[in-house]
Amino acid sequence: MKILVINGPNLNMLGIREPGIYGNNSYDALCEKVRNYCENCGVEVEFFQSNHEGALVDEIQKSYGVCDGIVINPGAYTHTSIALLDAVKAVGIPTVEVHISDVASREEFRQISYIRAACVKTITGHGIDGYCEAVEFLVNLK
Ligand code: DQA
Repeated sequence: MKILVINGPNLNMLGIREPGIYGNNSYDALCEKVRNYCENCGVEVEFFQSNHEGALVDEIQKSYGVCDGIVINPGAYTHTSIALLDAVKAVGIPTVEVHISDVASREEFRQISYIRAACVKTITGHGIDGYCEAVEFLVNLK
């Protein structure tokens, strides 16, 4: 089984950006944690981070026929991007939406998630552990 973990804008700034909301772990620490988790599950994993919407769409398209599952934290594009929703629908790969923070308890503009309609599950507010929970969910889906 192969899983692609996609992170959107500003998630490369983890550990620096608003640690009270997103915690102290860096993006590299997140990848390390998820890589170890996947290794223990016998899952092959790849990581991709971009601040650019089109690059995220390209990566989702590239995973067609290659990956069995996607874990995605689209960052702020969660709340704006129909293109990401369409890309996940287009490839038809089981996808879990992850948010580090508890978006439901935050600003009104964070209450809309376009991508959610194409996802098999949403995990919010569990910090970087949420990514491992997403992998576990996809493994059990098989
Ligand atoms: C986020 C929540 C989004 O609202 C925000 O724009 C992010 C991170 C999260 O992981 O909690 O960049 O997706």
